Amino acid sequence: METKDFDTYSERKAFDETKEGVKGLVDAHITEIPRIFRVPQGTLSDKKPSVSASDPTIPIIDFADVHVSRERIVEKIKDAAGNWGFFQVINYGVPLNVLEEIQGGVRRFFEQDLEVKKSYFTRDAAKRFVYNSNFDLYSSSLCVGWRDSFACYMAPDPPNPEELPVVCRDAMIEHTKHMTSLGVLLFELLSEALGLSSDKLKRMDCMKGFLMICHYYPPCPQPDLTIGTNNHSDNSFLTILLQDQVGGLQIHHQDHWVDVTPIPGALVINIGDFLQLITNDKFISAEHRVLSNRNETRISVASFFSTSMLPNATVYGPIKELLSEENPPKYREITLEEYTKGYFKKGLDGTSYLSNFKL
Ligand code: OGA
Ligand code: NI
Repeated sequence: METKDFDTYSERKAFDETKEGVKGLVDAHITEIPRIFRVPQGTLSDKKPSVSASDPTIPIIDFADVHVSRERIVEKIKDAAGNWGFFQVINYGVPLNVLEEIQGGVRRFFEQDLEVKKSYFTRDAAKRFVYNSNFDLYSSSLCVGWRDSFACYMAPDPPNPEELPVVCRDAMIEHTKHMTSLGVLLFELLSEALGLSSDKLKRMDCMKGFLMICHYYPPCPQPDLTIGTNNHSDNSFLTILLQDQVGGLQIHHQDHWVDVTPIPGALVINIGDFLQLITNDKFISAEHRVLSNRNETRISVASFFSTSMLPNATVYGPIKELLSEENPPKYREITLEEYTKGYFKKGLDGTSYLSNFKL
């Protein structure tokens, strides 16, 4: 902690030690949020995006005919990944009940018997299944986010089912299966969008690690004073996000915050920092955040393709085939582990971690 934050350390710690997360505060019917959750003044003055018919919206890509019009879809992905870093996909072939099951599983986990839930609470990232509130509770210099989360690595070394809470076990395993198949297709299309062979990104082990993080955003009595998730870009190659219909996710695009409007059955796909790095900025990892709301609990399920904190000696830099005299490498080489350690230490503070590796 920096000295300036020291006065809130004990408050953060007291909150942490309840092991009840933000949901515990809401269940206690608090009417004013503790100060550790307060965003710096002015941060949310741009909360409501300007809405006019001409405003750009995040691309929606229909995968229904991916087998017949692959080239057209690759073109769309190239545009979305290069200009937005975000897109939504529909008709991607995952049964709706798989998505409903995981959303139900996440709700069951957070709303289950408190003592059982607390037994999963930990700050030890080496634990298989990690439930807590704000991974960066002690490191972020911004406010604490109005959300609780659980995380689990589902690959490369899948958990034994018994290591997962019974209320969401089957749903997590099933969801992982489907997100992995969709990931295979997405990495193929992204490789093609770069003009590389279809299996290039997969051969680079972009899919080796799969980290699932499930978020629970309780309703907030003062939603204008806090935020669900602070501004950040993702520490991954690619992220597949399942959000419910509540809304609140925004991306920073050309100096504006743009809503990622929920679409029933759609998934949100975003480029992470590592894909920006290895594509030498051909694809961009866009900053995003989640706003709080007064009335509804929001649930989201993020699937990160990254080995993240796991030991992994592979070194990543800009892909040689994409470089030329006119397009020299913009980043130095890194390991995912080194990157992730620094990213976690910094916390979600609205600054880019990737920029530290610029040449
Ligand atoms: C994330 C994230 C968005 C959401 O987990 O990195 O941006 O809607 N989540 O929860
Ligand atoms: Ni994110």
